[in-house]
Amino acid sequence: MTSDRVSALSLAEQASLTSGATAWTTTPVRDAVRALTLSDGPHGIRRPAGDGPGVSFLAASLPATCFPPAVTLGSTWDTGLAHRVGAALAREASAFGVDVILGPGVNIKRSPLCGRNFEYLSEDPHVSGRMGAAVVTGIQSLGIGACVKHFAVNNQETDRMRVSADVDERTLRELYLPAFEHIVREARPYTVMCSYNRVNGVHASRHRGLLTGVLREEWGFDGLVMSDWGAVNDRVAALAAGLDLEMPPTGTDQEIVTAVEEGRLAASAVATAAERVLRLRDRVDRAEHLAAWDADAHHELAREAARSGAVLLKNDDGLLPLDPHSRQRIAVIGEFARTPRYQGHGSSRVTPTRLDTAWDALRAQAGPEVTLAFAPGFTLDGTPDAAMAAEAVALAAEADTALLFLGLPDSAETEGLDRTDLDLPAAQLALLRHVAAVCPRVAVVLANGSVVTVADWQHDATAVLEAWLGGQAGGSALADLLFGAHSPSGKLTESIPLRLRDTPSHLHFPGQDGHSVYGEGRYVGYRHYDTLDLPVAYPFGHGLSYTTFRYDDLDVEQTGENAWTVRATVTNTGSRAGAEVVQLYLAFDEPRPTRPRHELRGFAKLRLEPGRSDRAEFRLTGRDLARWSTARGGWRVDPGAFTVEVGASSRDIRLRTPLWTPGDEILDPLTEMSSLGEWLAHPTGAALLTEHLASLPFATTLADSDARLLEAAAQVPLRKFTGFGLGVTPDHVRALVAAAAEREDR
Ligand code: BGC
Repeated sequence: MTSDRVSALSLAEQASLTSGATAWTTTPVRDAVRALTLSDGPHGIRRPAGDGPGVSFLAASLPATCFPPAVTLGSTWDTGLAHRVGAALAREASAFGVDVILGPGVNIKRSPLCGRNFEYLSEDPHVSGRMGAAVVTGIQSLGIGACVKHFAVNNQETDRMRVSADVDERTLRELYLPAFEHIVREARPYTVMCSYNRVNGVHASRHRGLLTGVLREEWGFDGLVMSDWGAVNDRVAALAAGLDLEMPPTGTDQEIVTAVEEGRLAASAVATAAERVLRLRDRVDRAEHLAAWDADAHHELAREAARSGAVLLKNDDGLLPLDPHSRQRIAVIGEFARTPRYQGHGSSRVTPTRLDTAWDALRAQAGPEVTLAFAPGFTLDGTPDAAMAAEAVALAAEADTALLFLGLPDSAETEGLDRTDLDLPAAQLALLRHVAAVCPRVAVVLANGSVVTVADWQHDATAVLEAWLGGQAGGSALADLLFGAHSPSGKLTESIPLRLRDTPSHLHFPGQDGHSVYGEGRYVGYRHYDTLDLPVAYPFGHGLSYTTFRYDDLDVEQTGENAWTVRATVTNTGSRAGAEVVQLYLAFDEPRPTRPRHELRGFAKLRLEPGRSDRAEFRLTGRDLARWSTARGGWRVDPGAFTVEVGASSRDIRLRTPLWTPGDEILDPLTEMSSLGEWLAHPTGAALLTEHLASLPFATTLADSDARLLEAAAQVPLRKFTGFGLGVTPDHVRALVAAAAEREDR
């Protein structure tokens, strides 16, 4: 429906609202509609120093807090923290006059090779959806708009503007869409950004099924859909499909006007898109714009997020934390300790307000008894430097403990390119070997935005702390953890495989000839490894602490039909304060797998002082049990048994209890092609078969058949029994279908 305020605009003015004026602003209309300002996103505000036709849209940006990218924020599993980071982003946006932040990014990490995994939250849609929703509600709590991206199935950078993600419907519904669905339904983002790629052959920017059918009609999205930057190929088709705003502008508004004049595009489609731009303006106009933000407080928040997202992969002999007050010599080795890698490359790159280094922070936190010395060990461009390595090894030989800062070079992880391997640079691994040979206590601290393999080298490290990309305060966050002011509490939101070729998409990624076939289906990450019981280096959900936790008292309360509340007690059994990410999985044990062995359906992060306990609480609904039925074209809960599992990782289940569901009890309509088994399982169908066919040879033959034959016959569509001399005629079958439909209608 066209509102008066849209009708008051000419067609050309309406069309102008559906594209940007510059790379970062929408088009103003006279003094009736102001321009809105959009800015990347997702982990800091990237506000270019200028805007306008002459300014490259990758121009340097004004200083803003560089929070840890999504890989690290996701690994915190802390929705409250994600909300606070979202609110902080909004404060900075408001001070810059920005109306919409282009984030969060919630695409699934289908392959660890995706060059943009550092900008995404998880291989799992439940984590991505919950953490993404928390960022959105945080941003929008100040009236600034969030933009959930990239909708949809944008899981690689190779050929990203053309490639077709060829994915089956069930995989789409169960793996690639649920994070978006949850965020749209629960957090009500003001905007969504479509992706560059095609989905099953159709560009996302003109995919009516996704932009209108799924997003608006099914999920009730009432905001604005904008294009990714340059994702539109056909303005008219995109607008007709449900894309409201093309960014950045391509000077094609006249195409819209002409299409309407020639009857190729409904005038109402333009008016609807224009109305959505106005609605966005109404929403963001409610934001209060601050003059400035508290840079110190935001830096501290960035530090907390970096600290909470680091994952302690191993810690043999309790090597970490190091005591900052005992006499010891610590060799700090690796250029990353002095020149941190703290974010990835591309549109999300933020100019930080300041930058902490681990080297400075370790010195600041070490007591007078500690002797610290630094050697770079390697160059960041990867060129082997024997003298540099020898200096570092000599330093390690003199030390009680070596802290070795390893990681991927800056160029390895960037928007627009995928990686081709999961390895750390060879020069760094050679250095680790030599350091380990002279120093028995080696802690490796990793800087990387997506997983690296550890299986080939981790025996040389006593401890491994995966610090991801820590944002601008990552250096001090590391000192907080290494010296034990805080215990690590991050957990993996993506599995670490033993080898690249173990990854389920390996045979398909990144595709060829414009197609990436999602042949692994919904078996991505732990859904693959756990279903097939394959070894991994570290499983999904893994992460150690300096303390230990005990799980007891699993309790399930049925609160309704297909509704339960699950509770479990977690106790800090160690001697330090810590936080535990408690995970809930639902497991379906099937003789022949039709779904992943188990799937995450809940998580809670509990902070506990030594000796203290708390209850983790989760709610389960029918949707948590459901699978997407392609036959039904909707969600379906099958009747049967399943298991609630509560644990510390996907491979460390501590408590479990069996449950049973009657299913959703929705009966699918019976047709001539419904199988005999489906007819018999259907109360009306079974009754009708007895009434109509009991006197025929059909019934006697079935009654005389052995169990195996009956099992086979159960799979045969009813109509097929007409050919076997069993007395069943096509008229019988038609009459049965009609009678079934009639009784179901009543
Ligand atoms: C990226 C988006 C980003 C946009 C604007 C695109 O290349 O895919 O994530 O928001 O540029 O910088």
